[in-house]
Amino acid sequence: MYIEQEDILKHISAKPFRIISEAADELGVEAYVIGGYVRDIYLNRTSKDIDVVAVGSGIELAKSVAKKLGRGAHLSVFKNFGTAQVKCGDLELEFVGARKESYSHDSRKPVVEDGTLEDDQNRRDFTINALALCLNKDRYGELVDPFGGLDDMDDLTIRTPLDPDITFSDDPLRMMRAVRFATQLGFFIYPDTFDAIIRNKDRISIISKERIVDELNKIVLSPKPSIGFDLLDKCGLLPLIFPELCALKGVETKEGIGHKDNFAHTLMVLDRLSKTTDNLWLRWSAIFHDIAKPATKRFDNRLGWTFHNHNFIGERMIPGIFRKMKLPMNEKMKYVQKMVSLHMRPIALADDEVTDSAIRRLLFDAGNDIDDLMKLCEADITSKNPEKVRRFLANFRLVREKLAEIEEKDRVRNFQPPVSGEEIMNTFGLPPSQPVGVIKEAIKNAILDGIIPNEYEAARLFMLERAEKMGLMPH
Ligand code: CTP
Repeated sequence: MYIEQEDILKHISAKPFRIISEAADELGVEAYVIGGYVRDIYLNRTSKDIDVVAVGSGIELAKSVAKKLGRGAHLSVFKNFGTAQVKCGDLELEFVGARKESYSHDSRKPVVEDGTLEDDQNRRDFTINALALCLNKDRYGELVDPFGGLDDMDDLTIRTPLDPDITFSDDPLRMMRAVRFATQLGFFIYPDTFDAIIRNKDRISIISKERIVDELNKIVLSPKPSIGFDLLDKCGLLPLIFPELCALKGVETKEGIGHKDNFAHTLMVLDRLSKTTDNLWLRWSAIFHDIAKPATKRFDNRLGWTFHNHNFIGERMIPGIFRKMKLPMNEKMKYVQKMVSLHMRPIALADDEVTDSAIRRLLFDAGNDIDDLMKLCEADITSKNPEKVRRFLANFRLVREKLAEIEEKDRVRNFQPPVSGEEIMNTFGLPPSQPVGVIKEAIKNAILDGIIPNEYEAARLFMLERAEKMGLMPH
């Protein structure tokens, strides 16, 4: 990995770096920028979080830097942790003193002592995250890389600086981080490091679900998320953190008929979809779209393998899984549920004749998420039969054209009933009651089925006729 020194200096040329340099020299401490910021210089990625290690007191250095930066800077000190933060514009500087850390196995609290720069680099997760650039004036921009982090960067390797059993048992979240970096950066996990994940996987149980799901989200947002899920599966972490996804694995054969491996299929759909969207929750929808296949799998002598209602059962499984994994129980979850419950509809449509009424109903049910749903469904076509794929995609094009045409004409995407429940009650002198609901539903269906246009006058006339059949008269 070769980068011109000039380029490195460019990344540490902003005013705050110069000020750290000045402050460190005045205090007589060594100061280094370390970790993700340095890694990302070499990977040509941008990062805003800057970690600074002082060989001495990080807090004293931060105080002096904040003072020199003046009005624009905001200092927060976390005395208990021995760290401090300085915010300056959109830069966030984290200061810490170099530490030697060891964890005892009966307590998760580390025993922390002051240490050298190398002690501090030793206790970091991966060699590529242990690179340090000196900020003191006479060594400004000098790289300190005692573990071959730069070589690992060249070889696209994720490797721990210490014996991986120590690194991972110190902080088991690092096992997830190894998989996450491999997925995000397209790196490989060094065999010794990977074997240690297999040995230490059960220690993941001491890590909070929130931290685990943070890493999972980063995997899901990577260019090719299947890399991460395959690695999690191979090292044995996946059954511990997401058993429902593991349950999709495998192929069963009866009477010579097999079904597809739904784990492989799900990951393929996720990768295909990821090429067309950065929407985290649409990507999660791909992960969950077939989650109920194991629960609904049956073998039928005439039909072969069936997964009846797996979309609706999947929709119902989602809240339990979201709660357990500490995914958000809010409108994001509702969106994923909606995508999962509707994911069969466009396919069924493309299979049959594409009637206006079916299109209107799909538009009504999907609302503004219709484009996302179509993306998911197109990604779901993973058949190896090119003729089948061609036919499906051609039908989807037709569905899309019809969707645009009907939406233009009928505006049912954000359907608001043209006659309100209140108006129905007032017209017939009814209290809130079942007949009001029946009339309202009938008006909605008449519009969706194309019996009447989506307009007030037509809806009002229809209401009067429908009510008359129920023996109701305007009062
Ligand atoms: N680190 C570590 N072990 C962890 C978390 C972090 O050793 N479990 C160290 C690494 O040196 C890392 C640095 O702390 O580079 C900063 O961590 P963090 O901000 O979480 O991650 P980054 O590496 O900066 O990457 P990203 O911003 O992509 O999360």
